[in-house]
Amino acid sequence: MYRTKTCGELRTVNLHQEVILAGWIQKTRKFGGMIFVDLRDRYGITQLVFNREINAQLCAEAEKLGREWVVRAKGKVAERSNKNSSIPTGDIEIIVSELQVLNSSETPPFTIETDTDGGDDLRMKYRYLDLRRTVVRANLELRHRVAFAVRSYLNEQRFLEVETPVLVGSTPEGARDFIVPSRMNPGEFYALPQSPQLFKQLLMVSGFDRYFQIVKCFRDEDLRADRQPEFTQIDCEMSFVEQEDVLNLFEGLIRYLFQTIKNVDIPAMPRLPFSEAMKLYGSDKPDTRFAMHFTELKDLTGGKNFGVFDNAEYVGAICAEGCAAYTRKQLDELIDFVKRPQIGASGLIYVRYEADGNVKSSANKFYTPDDLKLWLERAGAKPCDLLLILCGKTEQTQKQLGELRLEMGSRLGLRNKDQFSCLWIVDFPLLEFDEETDRYYAKHHPFTSPKQEDIPLLNTNAGAVRANAYDMVINGAEVGGGSIRIHNSELQQNMFSLLGFSEAQAQAQFGFLMNAFKYGAPPHGGIAFGLDRLVSIFAGLDSIRDCIAFPKNNSGRDVMIDAPTEVSGEQLRELHLIE
Ligand code: AMO
Repeated sequence: MYRTKTCGELRTVNLHQEVILAGWIQKTRKFGGMIFVDLRDRYGITQLVFNREINAQLCAEAEKLGREWVVRAKGKVAERSNKNSSIPTGDIEIIVSELQVLNSSETPPFTIETDTDGGDDLRMKYRYLDLRRTVVRANLELRHRVAFAVRSYLNEQRFLEVETPVLVGSTPEGARDFIVPSRMNPGEFYALPQSPQLFKQLLMVSGFDRYFQIVKCFRDEDLRADRQPEFTQIDCEMSFVEQEDVLNLFEGLIRYLFQTIKNVDIPAMPRLPFSEAMKLYGSDKPDTRFAMHFTELKDLTGGKNFGVFDNAEYVGAICAEGCAAYTRKQLDELIDFVKRPQIGASGLIYVRYEADGNVKSSANKFYTPDDLKLWLERAGAKPCDLLLILCGKTEQTQKQLGELRLEMGSRLGLRNKDQFSCLWIVDFPLLEFDEETDRYYAKHHPFTSPKQEDIPLLNTNAGAVRANAYDMVINGAEVGGGSIRIHNSELQQNMFSLLGFSEAQAQAQFGFLMNAFKYGAPPHGGIAFGLDRLVSIFAGLDSIRDCIAFPKNNSGRDVMIDAPTEVSGEQLRELHLIE
């Protein structure tokens, strides 16, 4: 037998028991005639003790043990004279009577400890060693618990987990597809699914009623901290539901997860229309852990010969509480921040509401203190506060002000990882107009239904049509999104034509869906959550990479297995990719 106990479970109640443990050597320490060894497995660390006076031979063997060797040790549980309160097994140790080396190890390239000396690249190359570290393993344990709780909740709600194919056809969902050549069908390609969207809708046509799947999705897009080329969705679909039904059920899921995983009670989630979100926060995924709502000032700023504001479509401000005493350097940092190409503002105007009630602004030349006081009043500013103002085209400026708001939120410590603020964004526009290609794109995806009352606008003012679409946002991250679907083949056809598909193109790409809709498609809708994003919020991680066992780096590479790689000419010929 390799072991009778794990390295995390022995306590003083086990004193004097004979046990066998197996694990990895974390550390050995010599202390006079004694050798202390920390033995680690998935469950914890237990101290092994070797005493030269009792067994010199065994002690000599223990002395040879190196870091990360795999051993099996038999011995008696004894009470430690020098207790270690920082680990759960710190009250006991094992007086070893038998030691067996199961495998030796080369010296690992970095220390397998919470504060490791290994840099990012090295740890990714040796990810299997990084995964031995408690902090990394804990993230995957958490991920397991989340997935398990999701299955349990949805099973209770009569959802069926159904697997859908991984080799599918290309679907237009915004991102680029990963393409797989078909050997048996020369010149033809599969795509890896960006999501199981069409299959889950077809399952509704099949009468499955409530479907879910914890499923890998693939998108060939530029990577960021919250994006991986392959990621996992909790993908769900339901029949005979309206938007409210879907929101209520999945709000229930997320609150259940917070309760079981974090022991946190999340209050009922507010529903904020997209247009309001843009007005108040300049973002469709606002971080609502703090308020700092926008204040519109355009009407108060005109007629004073300040061209910058006069020529702007929009003038908006945020009020940074207690920041009136910001130094010149701090203000310059903020100006540099908004001028970064990623943000793109041309400048920043500020108004200091000083502690003594005086008002000072970078636009002093154009505005009297009384003018400025009107702005401050509207923004709800108090003495000691600082007003930060951006102006320009409405949508663009709101987004820039949104970035500045987040920056100020971080600077003021208002984005605490242990605090959770969840909400729904609803009433998204159905379509987005792209100036460059001069056409509409589906904001969510082409299967999303317009709001019933907005359908007449489809052929007159398509840009104003709102969708039955919704996103769930937690702490400024979009963790899930979905919609009520079109289930009528004519409306679907109309939608494709609005999106610039000819009838033939729509038929070629989605004929099967529109056909299916002719055979009794029930009203249906659904949602998909990003599992990686949810887990990283629960774990307080900065990047979703840290809760993925074998993630890709920012260039989409797996540096451990060194993929992607070139393949042989023979393989390419077989796939009909070269002559
Ligand atoms: P959507 O495209 O909004 O909707 O995706 C759903 C959720 O998946 C997560 N997500 C990602 N996570 C990590 N890396 C990525 N590259 C990535 N892309 C998306 C986000 C997002 O909210 N079929 C629809 C859902 C539906 O309509 O039911 C869909 O895929 O958390």
